[in-house]
Amino acid sequence: MIQKSFVMIKPDGVSRRLMGKILSRFEQKGLQVIAVKLMQISEDLAKTHYGEHEGKPFFEDLITYITSSPSLAMVIKGEDAVLTIRKMIGATNPSEADVGTIRGDFAMDTGRNIIHASDSPESAKREINLFFDESEICDYSIVDNIWIYE
Ligand code: RTP
Ligand code: MG
Repeated sequence: MIQKSFVMIKPDGVSRRLMGKILSRFEQKGLQVIAVKLMQISEDLAKTHYGEHEGKPFFEDLITYITSSPSLAMVIKGEDAVLTIRKMIGATNPSEADVGTIRGDFAMDTGRNIIHASDSPESAKREINLFFDESEICDYSIVDNIWIYE
């Protein structure tokens, strides 16, 4: 099923100049980037986005990290995009993430794991609506899809 996922390069990924390399991986895979926005996330937005973790021991550090400098928020579309992208980003702890995944290749520490991606179609919907207006999403068709999908 064609799905949309919410993906965000976290402040460390942006500030380490890894935006291009990370975006390339999604493009090379055959996924389609349909929205991007460089933004410094407010404390309110960060707390809503990560609301499920409120009260956990790492919550305050997570909010400080995510709001510390700009992140690149995006919407990415493709067949089974939610699960495919979760596989591409790798395990939450980069030391457990497989080599070849984004966290496995570019990060060392759970508290600096450079990228977020929605973990289910329901969270994808919620997160896309939280970060983007309908008008900011460019749901265009691209001609190479005949070479990406049968
Ligand atoms: P994300 O939501 O950012 O895509 O990460 P995830 O699903 O792989 O992991 P999740 O459990 O949702 O945790 C959200 C983010 O909180 C930070 N974290 N720190 N120190 C810790 O034990 C700890 N656990 C989680 C990480 O930045 C993680 O990505
Ligand atoms: Mg998560």
